[in-house]
Formats: sequence, C-alpha cells, structure tokens
Amino acid sequence: MASDQVILETINLDKSFGAIHAVRTVSWKVYQGRVNALVGDNGAGKSTLIKLISGALAPNAGSFRVHGQETTIGGPAGAFNLGIAAVYQDLALVESRDVVMNMFLGSEMTRGVGAIFLDHKGMLRQAHDVLNDIHARIPNVREMVRNLSGGQRQAVAVGRALIRGGEIIIMDEPTAALGVEQTQEVLQLIDTLRKQGKTIILISHNIQQVFEIADYISVMFHGELLGTRRREEATEAEIVAMIMGRRAP
Ligand SMILES: Nc1ncnc2c1ncn2[C@@H]1O[C@H](COP(=O)(O)OP(=O)(O)O)[C@@H](O)[C@H]1O
Ligand SMILES: [Mg+2]
Repeated sequence: MASDQVILETINLDKSFGAIHAVRTVSWKVYQGRVNALVGDNGAGKSTLIKLISGALAPNAGSFRVHGQETTIGGPAGAFNLGIAAVYQDLALVESRDVVMNMFLGSEMTRGVGAIFLDHKGMLRQAHDVLNDIHARIPNVREMVRNLSGGQRQAVAVGRALIRGGEIIIMDEPTAALGVEQTQEVLQLIDTLRKQGKTIILISHNIQQVFEIADYISVMFHGELLGTRRREEATEAEIVAMIMGRRAP
C-alpha cells in the first residue's frame, strides 16, 4: 500500500461549540479506494470531524485538500460537488416512499422539453442498476422503505449517495443498530464499494469489525487525532490503548 494516494486531507481543522473544543487542529489523510476507519470513545469528536468533511458543519479554522487541491467544502451541496457523500445514522429515508423515489429524492431525473416530466422509467432502471452493482439484496425497487430491513436501508442510502456521484462515502456507525446478519451485509457492502474504487470513511465502535474491514485505522481522543495505523501493522491492544488516550511512541 506504499503507493496509496491521499484523496482528501484536512489541515489543522478546528471546531468548537461554545466552550466545548470538539475537533482540535486535526490534520487527517484519507486514502483513495480504501476503507478509512475512524475510532475513538464517545465524545472524541468523530461525528463532528466527518460533519466538517461533509459540509454539515463549518470549521472555525483549518482547510481541506481534495485531490491535492486546496478547497473549501461550502455546505452539503459543495461537498457533493467534490464527490463527498455522507450516509447518516438516521439515513433520512422517507418511510412512505418506495426505494426508487428515495434514491432520487431531491435529484429526480426529468425528461421532455424543459425537463418538466419525471423520468420514471429512467429512474427505475438506474436505481436497479446501482443496487445491482453493489449487490444489494432488494428484490423490488418499488418496495416501500418501511418494509425494508436495516441492511437494505443502508444499501438504499448508499445507492442514493452513488447516484449523486459520491466518490468518498462517509458512514457514521452504519451497523450500530443492526443484528449480526445485517451487520455482515453492511460489511459486504463496504467491501463491494472498495472493490469498485470508492473511498470509504467508516466510523465504528466495534474494534473487531474495524480490524475485519478497514485498511487504515485513525484514532481520535478528546478532539485530537492521535494517529493513523495501517490495519496490518496495528494490533487491537495498540488501538485500544490509543482510544484510551495513550499516544503511541
Ligand atoms: N451541535 C453540538 N452542540 C454542542 N456540542 C456538541 C455538538 N455536537 C457535538 N458536540 C460535543 O462535541 C464533542 C464531540 O462530539 P461528537 O463529535 O459527537 O463525538 P463522537 O462522534 O466521537 O462521539 C462532545 O463533547 C459533544 O457533546
Ligand atoms: Mg458520533
């Protein structure tokens, strides 16, 4: 992995909420086509860091480099334009709409002069293709989201990110609410995305899971980034020690 490319970099990123210093001058490298895990105790600043990257929050200081270019994120729309897509914990899916409409919410395909008609056929086909590509087990794209399992919902949310051109897919605790089987489904989904060259940022509490799937493991403690290890060079004991605030030598 010596040739791994950095696709995204934060430089001295800083964020406070009043007196709470949630992210402290974090300079973090995210590697292209890899699973980049972010671990740390509750309140370590993981969600805040990825919200800065996905444009959900604006930093107090610091900057970003994407594909080597210094840039600002400029809100969620700006992040999308840079290929950064967050798949949030609550997934923000609409229960009473089907899979296709959920995948195209807010970015519906249109047809006709002036693009005034929704292109239902086109959306159906693309939703089907995208879900096929990620080996999602969703038998019918016209199914209502309320009838889907947790694993299937993750696939729909990821599909939505891909349709919008997501190259860097951010997942914050995607398996936190899932059982064993559906957790496996989501890990397979992450592996499939990696095989397709996507970059994944994965926040997880589950160290075993992180060692199973991640290529890089980064540890946050009290708002600071303590370090990044290649998975095959790290031990669980070392990572756990870092999570508890022990800086590695
Ligand atoms: N919107 C907010 N307003 C005030 N404090 C916040 C907000 N979001 C997060 N925090 C605080 O920032 C710190 C880091 O939180 P967070 O990034 O959610 O940590 P993690 O995801 O690692 O559990 C915590 O002390 C948390 O209470
Ligand atoms: Mg969090």
